[in-house]
Amino acid sequence: MPDRRQVLFGLAAVSFARPAKAAALQLRAAPGKAQLAPKGYGATDVWAFNGSVPGTTLRGTKGGRMRVAVENGLSEPTSVHWHGLRLENPMDGVPGVTQDAIAAGARFDYDFRLPDAGTYWYHSHSRSFEQVARGLYGPLIVDEPDPPDVDADEILMLDDWRLVGEGAIAEGFGAIFDKAHGGRIGNWVTVNGQGEWKKPVPRGSRIRLRLINAANGRIFGLHLSGMTASVVALDGQPTSRPLPTDTVSLAPAQRVDLIADISGNDGGEAVIASRERDGDFAIASFPIEAGKAPSSIEIPTLPSNNVPLPSQTDAMAAPVRELRMEGGAMGRMREAEFEGESLDARTLASRGMAWSFNGMAGMPEAPFAEVRRGETVRIALINDTSWPHAMHLHGHHFLEFTRAAFGSIPNLRDTTVVAPNSQREIVFVADNPGDWLLHCHMLEHAAAGMMTWLRVT
Ligand code: C2O
Ligand code: CU
Repeated sequence: MPDRRQVLFGLAAVSFARPAKAAALQLRAAPGKAQLAPKGYGATDVWAFNGSVPGTTLRGTKGGRMRVAVENGLSEPTSVHWHGLRLENPMDGVPGVTQDAIAAGARFDYDFRLPDAGTYWYHSHSRSFEQVARGLYGPLIVDEPDPPDVDADEILMLDDWRLVGEGAIAEGFGAIFDKAHGGRIGNWVTVNGQGEWKKPVPRGSRIRLRLINAANGRIFGLHLSGMTASVVALDGQPTSRPLPTDTVSLAPAQRVDLIADISGNDGGEAVIASRERDGDFAIASFPIEAGKAPSSIEIPTLPSNNVPLPSQTDAMAAPVRELRMEGGAMGRMREAEFEGESLDARTLASRGMAWSFNGMAGMPEAPFAEVRRGETVRIALINDTSWPHAMHLHGHHFLEFTRAAFGSIPNLRDTTVVAPNSQREIVFVADNPGDWLLHCHMLEHAAAGMMTWLRVT
């Protein structure tokens, strides 16, 4: 009989012989403080990952894996969703669907693949209308094995906050007024948790800008000046070629990657401004230092991630599954089913519900659709409301379906805006097995009924 020490020694030897696993990253969700408001105001009490807003930037490389140990230092349950990653379903971070919520004081180890390079983000997916609004989010970047040649790579994570007094976060989360209108719109915009984000850059430098909208409800309309920019990726996925622009629309949860040449004069500023009713407000600025003339080298096309694309034939042949959105202020929803009862709009409001998908408010028992792995799925998002909605599908990227989309390589997204009283079709190959949410990413809308799911078997 070998003695116990020898057995242990033997085991240790075996584990040493294995290739070393990358160390797990750590994210601890807990109350913290952040200087969101201008100096002179107090620091704001936030909920943060690793004590900062945004939380620690997580970075990996395409084709690799990421392991993240999430610890819950809050006094309520939480979970983390890795927004936009086509990962394994059990790692998707949705309590009640893919895991149990992480109880206060408990820990959950996430371990998932990184199939696509690009700009992603992570955020709480538990009572997210409050947890995200209090600061529980951060960037998740997956690098290309051979990244494009740029002088700097900047993450710009946008948010808006509803601050009162000396910079405290206003209470009143989940107010029915916000739910039935455009969500909890803030009165203070931050980039990377700062009111006036600034970074000096030399003239002529080429920078990659990764814009991420972490706001609950605000659609940013951005205007760029002092730079010559092209969109190179949407929601992480490369565009088929760089698309030159000086305006960017960024709905909640959406990302846009730009490559920009700083073309303003030295002593000037390159600026990203938010277009508001009363003018353009700079939210990020790049004071321009002496440098060189802007590059004459073409802006590169990022390498495709090889997301499976539906063929035109399969897309045309696929049944159109309708998802009709109703409700909200100035809407026409008379009634909807909620928790097994058919209720009128007033009663629904008294239970915190303001919207429905196909006549159902809130997460339905049965999936919106059950499809086979590999099937081409076509969904008509029909917006019968007076508000725009930023519809997000978990675990997949889709294309916005138009006949024109098949002329060239279409752009893929994971979150698309459906304008008021209009419709938009999305089409994708359901190649990722599991139960996946499809919801409005205006977080008050999701909490007030705009939530469903899809089963891929
Ligand atoms: Cu970014 Cu279901 O969410
Ligand atoms: Cu919505």
